[in-house]
Amino acid sequence: MLGRVNHIAIAVPDLAAATASYRDTLGATVSAPQALPEHGVTVVFVELPNTKIELLEPLGQASPIASFLEKNPAGGMHHICYEVADILAARDHLQKSGARVLGSGEPKTGAHGKPVLFLHPKDFFGTLVELEQV
Ligand code: CO
Repeated sequence: MLGRVNHIAIAVPDLAAATASYRDTLGATVSAPQALPEHGVTVVFVELPNTKIELLEPLGQASPIASFLEKNPAGGMHHICYEVADILAARDHLQKSGARVLGSGEPKTGAHGKPVLFLHPKDFFGTLVELEQV
């Protein structure tokens, strides 16, 4: 069911500082910031030859990453995103297997304009899992 790693996401307290660090210290290509109010985050993508790193900064009062940053004030790895060919088939299979799909269970549109779902970290060894249909 799982395809490639689409991206690994890191929550950061200061997106401009994190962008400068990835661009200037690590020498990576970093996209322009993109506000995603539906997800409560502003993101940039670090473009790598084999995948992307998504840097996330909270956007708005009810950001889902605010409490994560309270526990990890310097930032930290937030989720890993795997590609799937059919997100509804993947969801149905996961739910039948007892895995918890977060939210309503209906895919939302992610940062790349593709449908995404998130899976409960307690079902996957402490790691929040994102699925993206490609
Ligand atoms: Co993501």
